[in-house]
Amino acid sequence: MARRLLSVAIAATAVLVFAVIGLGLWLEEGRVATEAEHPLQSIGGPFSLTDQRGRTVTNTDLRDRFMLIYFGYTYCPDVCPADLLGMSQAVAVLDDKRVQPIFITIDPERDTVETMAAYAAHFHPDLLALTGTSTQIATVAKAYGIYVRKTEGTDEGGEYLMDHTGQIYFMGRSGEFLRSFPHGTAPDVMVDAIRSHLQPTA
Ligand code: NI
Repeated sequence: MARRLLSVAIAATAVLVFAVIGLGLWLEEGRVATEAEHPLQSIGGPFSLTDQRGRTVTNTDLRDRFMLIYFGYTYCPDVCPADLLGMSQAVAVLDDKRVQPIFITIDPERDTVETMAAYAAHFHPDLLALTGTSTQIATVAKAYGIYVRKTEGTDEGGEYLMDHTGQIYFMGRSGEFLRSFPHGTAPDVMVDAIRSHLQPTA
């Protein structure tokens, strides 16, 4: 009897393991599909959001600026703060007002204007921290091909986490996609790449 129970337990464990692997592959496939649907040239588009001072900011307001955009959320335990820090360091080294650093939340439910203001203060003084309604955020995330998924689990504090694309997008003065920097790109690498796109000031 005990042996039978053991084999049932082993079989159940095997089913569970395959189910987890299958789910993982399925999620991974979904992510790849999302990226494939978004050729790089089509990244970007119009948006209307609210900055950390409560002002409306649209893509038109940022016309003629180079934009360095990162999508994330203030509750992010590690990836977002690291990327925003790297981006801020690159912007500090560049010291060029034509380059506008922007942080757009993918978690508008928790990232209110006040939350974004407090969070942005930890990074570069020029960092524009944008939030909006869930529809406004969904629109801009879609335009930039950002993968967003609320995870099932929660952190030790019981807060939900968000799985999201961790890329920094560098956009040109007409809002066109120039290039992206993956998570963990060294600030110096970003500085060199960005400088190569900036016209010399005559
Ligand atoms: Ni994050």
